[in-house]
Amino acid sequence: MHTTGTAMTRRRIFAVLSASLLATGLAACGNSDTGDKGGTGSGKIVLGFSQVGAESGWRTANTNSIKEAAAAAGFELKFDDAQQKQENQIKAIRNFIQQKVDVIAFSPVVESGWDTVLKEAKDAKIPVILTDRSVDSADKTLYKTFIGSDFVKEGKLSGEWLVEKTKSATGPVNIVELQGTTGSAPANDRKKGFAAAIAANPNLKVIASQTGDFTRAGGKAVMEQFLKANPKIDVLFAHNDDMGLGALEAITAAGKVPGKDITIITIDAVKDGMQALADGKFNFIAECSPLLGPQLMDLVKKVKAGETIPTRIETQEGTFTQEQAKAALPTRKY
Ligand code: AHR
Repeated sequence: MHTTGTAMTRRRIFAVLSASLLATGLAACGNSDTGDKGGTGSGKIVLGFSQVGAESGWRTANTNSIKEAAAAAGFELKFDDAQQKQENQIKAIRNFIQQKVDVIAFSPVVESGWDTVLKEAKDAKIPVILTDRSVDSADKTLYKTFIGSDFVKEGKLSGEWLVEKTKSATGPVNIVELQGTTGSAPANDRKKGFAAAIAANPNLKVIASQTGDFTRAGGKAVMEQFLKANPKIDVLFAHNDDMGLGALEAITAAGKVPGKDITIITIDAVKDGMQALADGKFNFIAECSPLLGPQLMDLVKKVKAGETIPTRIETQEGTFTQEQAKAALPTRKY
């Protein structure tokens, strides 16, 4: 079959026009899908979240809160567990940048060393929200806000309770301290707050202080060493419930009665910690709430919509004595 020159030209023009119309159509579709800059094309807000790990009951409750709230908000959540390693968090954040998520949120395992990766997110125009723990970056424009507890206050409340409890003590009161992860904001700040609260009382003395990495196993192992090295321990200040719970095993194995022979102060107020407090094994807990999910999703929406948000949002929390723990336990959510 022969084709005339005019017919061929018409066909070519038609083919070129169709191709360019198709290309315009695809581009339009692409724009609407990526109107939320997220790279998945789902049309949902895409949130990249880098979690510290799964080191404690607090962390599990926090992860559940984030996942449930993201699902309820209709977001696409890209969740990464850094297994308590900063290099894993940096890698996860870089992946989120590459995937062009809409917002990045993370709970930094340690305070220092974030400037470079935060600058990369800023250059890629991806807003960052810090949750639970903050960073020590001098440039506050590297992140939009920090939502979480006042860790110095938690340490201070713990120390103030001890000062009150020991106010009629005549001899020295020997304290051992189980610190959280070295270099993390809660470990640095709780130590600082506690030391400040007891500073004016020379009979209250921290005789040993070491990290238990916020885990039960760490708390148990370090408490065993403390007990071997120090014949007289009056008080244990543990930076979280889990280390306190691990220490209980070491104390009992050493033939001492927790809550009586050794006064135990912890931080968090998760269910297992509250149970130990209600059972008389712990003596005082300063609360640190892990339920940050709903507030975080609200902030993500606002940041995505270009709204201005406060640069610091402090979680509201209280303290618990043994009696208060008994009353609160039946309705405790985590
Ligand atoms: O950053 C919050 C702390 O991290 C919690 O107190 C602790 O339990 C967790 O691992």
